[in-house]
Amino acid sequence: MDTRAIYPGSFDPVTNGHIDLIHRSAAVFDTVVVAILHNAGKTPFFSIEERTEMLLEAIRGIKNVSVTSFEGLLVDFVEQIGASVIIRGIRAVSDYEYELQMALMNRRLSNKVETVFMLPAESYSFLSSRLVKEISQLGGSIHGLVPEDVEKRLSSRFRIK
Ligand code: PNS
Repeated sequence: MDTRAIYPGSFDPVTNGHIDLIHRSAAVFDTVVVAILHNAGKTPFFSIEERTEMLLEAIRGIKNVSVTSFEGLLVDFVEQIGASVIIRGIRAVSDYEYELQMALMNRRLSNKVETVFMLPAESYSFLSSRLVKEISQLGGSIHGLVPEDVEKRLSSRFRIK
C-alpha cells in the first residue's frame, strides 16, 4: 500500500530549509502533501494564496508532491486526505521539546498517525521564516536562504512600506 505523508506548517514564507525537507520526504514516501495552516486567529505575513503560489513554484518538477491548505485539527485533516505520516523538521535540540509535545498530543488524538522527524541539511540549521522576514525588513541579504521568487516578494513588500 502507498504511504502518504503530510508536511504541515505555516510556511510564512517557505525557506530553502523547508524545500530541502520536501525533497528528502519525497524520496522516502510515495506521496507527500505539503499542508499550509490557515489559522483564522492569526495574521500571517503572506496570505494563503501567496504562500500556496510560492510553494507550488518551489515544488515544480517533483512528481509525488502536492500543496494544499487546512484549517482545524491536523489529525482530522490527516485522516481526511488518507495520510498516515506527519513529517516535521528538527533543526536543533531546541526544536525537539515543542515537536515532542505536538507529536505526542497528535498521537493521543489519533492512534492512526505516526510523526516522523527529519533533519534538514546542516547548512539550514539556523534558518527560520521569522528570521528571514526580519533580515529582509532590515535590509539584510537573504540570498540563498529562500527561493528567488520568495526573495523578490519579500523585498518588494518591504520596499512598498
Ligand atoms: O510551521 P509551524 O508553524 O511550526 O507549524 C505548526 C503546525 C501547523 C504543524 C501546528 O500548529 C498544527 O498542527 N496546527 C493545527 C492545529 C492542531 O492540530 N493543533 C494541535 C497540535 S498538537
